[in-house]
Order: sequence, then C-alpha cells, then structure tokens
Amino acid sequence: MKYQDIFQALKGVGDIDLSSLVLPVAETGFALYPINCNPGCVDKVVVSMLTEARNRNRDSFLTYFEATPERTFQWIVSSVAKDSTRILFALRDIGTKELYGYMGLAYGDARGTRIEGDAIVRFSDTGRPGLMRAAFLSLVEWVMVDIGIKEVWVRVRSSNPAVTFYNQCGFSVEFDAPLYEVNGSRGELEELSETPLKDHAIVSADSLFHMKYHC
Ligand SMILES: CC(C)(COP(=O)(O)OP(=O)(O)OC[C@H]1O[C@@H](n2cnc3c(N)ncnc32)[C@H](O)[C@@H]1OP(=O)(O)O)[C@@H](O)C(=O)NCCC(=O)NCCS
Repeated sequence: MKYQDIFQALKGVGDIDLSSLVLPVAETGFALYPINCNPGCVDKVVVSMLTEARNRNRDSFLTYFEATPERTFQWIVSSVAKDSTRILFALRDIGTKELYGYMGLAYGDARGTRIEGDAIVRFSDTGRPGLMRAAFLSLVEWVMVDIGIKEVWVRVRSSNPAVTFYNQCGFSVEFDAPLYEVNGSRGELEELSETPLKDHAIVSADSLFHMKYHC
C-alpha cells in the first residue's frame, strides 16, 4: 500500500477507514490520534485548538492570517483532506483525552522517499518537559520504520527557538535559504516566501533552515 493511501485511510477519507488507529508515545500515557478530515467527523475541540494555537504562534510560521474556527474547518476538510501527502495528529492523554498539542507530516514526495515534519505545536500551558520531543520522535520513527520513508526534514525560521527543539530531536541544519517578504495591498506582511517577487524583492531578516533527521 502506498503511504498516500495509508494517510487518507487514517484521516477518514480513504477507500478504507483506519481513523480509529492511534500511535502510542511509549512510557508517557499519551498517544497521537489522527485528525479526522471527513466533514461529518471533524472534532470541534480539535478545530478550536488548531485555531487558538495558530493565532498564538503567528511568528512561528511563514504565512500571516487571523485563524477562525470556520477557516480552520475549511482547511481541514478541503486542503488537508485532499492532500494525500499530508496528515495531522492530535497529541492527547490516553486516559482523559485532554489535548496537549498537535503535529503533522507534509510535503511527501510522490515516490515516498522524503517527507517533512509540519506544524509541531504544544497547545497545553502546563508543559510536561520532553513530551513534545518524545511524541515527535515516535512520529518520525513510525514514518521511517513502519511506513518506510527514508528521509525526514523540517523547515523552520532561523529566529524560532524551535531550532533548538529540533536539534534536541536529532535534526541538523543542512542548508539555509533566504526568505522574501510578500506584502498585502496596505503594506502589511502577508507571507515570507522562499521565492523572490519579480519586481521588488524585500529580503527578510529571517531565513529558513532546512533541517534533516539523522538517526
Ligand atoms: C517547539 C515546541 C513544540 C517545543 O515544545 P516543548 O514542550 O518545549 O518540547 P519539549 O519539552 O519536548 O522539549 C524538548 C527539548 O527541546 C528544547 N526546547 C524546546 N523549546 C525550546 C526553546 N524555546 N528554546 C530552547 N530549547 C527548547 C528543550 O529544552 C528540551 O531539551 P532538554 O530536554 O534537553 O531540556 C513548542 O515550543 C512550541 O509549540 N512552539 C511554538 C510553535 C512552533 O514554533 N513550532 C515549530 C514550528 S516549525
């Protein structure tokens, strides 16, 4: 089975439904639950978490916008559901089902040789030191060992303290790409892009680290 079909099945939008499978995070009492992208099965509490966490961490990502529950719902049931190279998981306490954070995989290539860790965010204010790292390493191990994808990368803004988090997880910077500002009609920053605009390229103070996992 191709990894794309497995992702769709886990998201509840494939030919078979594997959406009730979970990936346990060993010795923590937590597990990664695939986020269901079937419009009838989207969990409102998960939508709230994604919306709130996206707005709280605006400077961590490349696009700037105000997230709303409606926009997040549409993103899940259209973009995430249709993109078979992407999957998102909610990190929950297995006993209480309380949400701790979320993390995903995206931008996998067609042949299944390379993928990226994507949207790795702690939601809970009460941190359990090391839990996000343990969960992300479980996800990386699953996609490499069980799914068979050989390379896992992350892209992270150079100013983001998460660079240290990824270092601690076994990732190292392979190259550093410049970022260019994309501004809206009122001059507001809309996006940081790896591709310069033709006429007026404004180089951002931030660059983009491409980091690769080394076991
Ligand atoms: C990145 C993030 C998920 C880390 O969550 P966390 O709860 O701190 O993770 P952990 O407790 O598992 O930390 C694991 C290691 O990373 C290190 N680390 C985590 N955040 C760090 C920071 N801001 N600065 C320095 N080190 C950090 C920790 O010190 C720890 O190492 P240690 O065990 O040697 O002390 C969290 O800070 C977050 O949600 N950031 C905002 C969203 C974001 O920027 N995501 C990345 C987008 S590319």
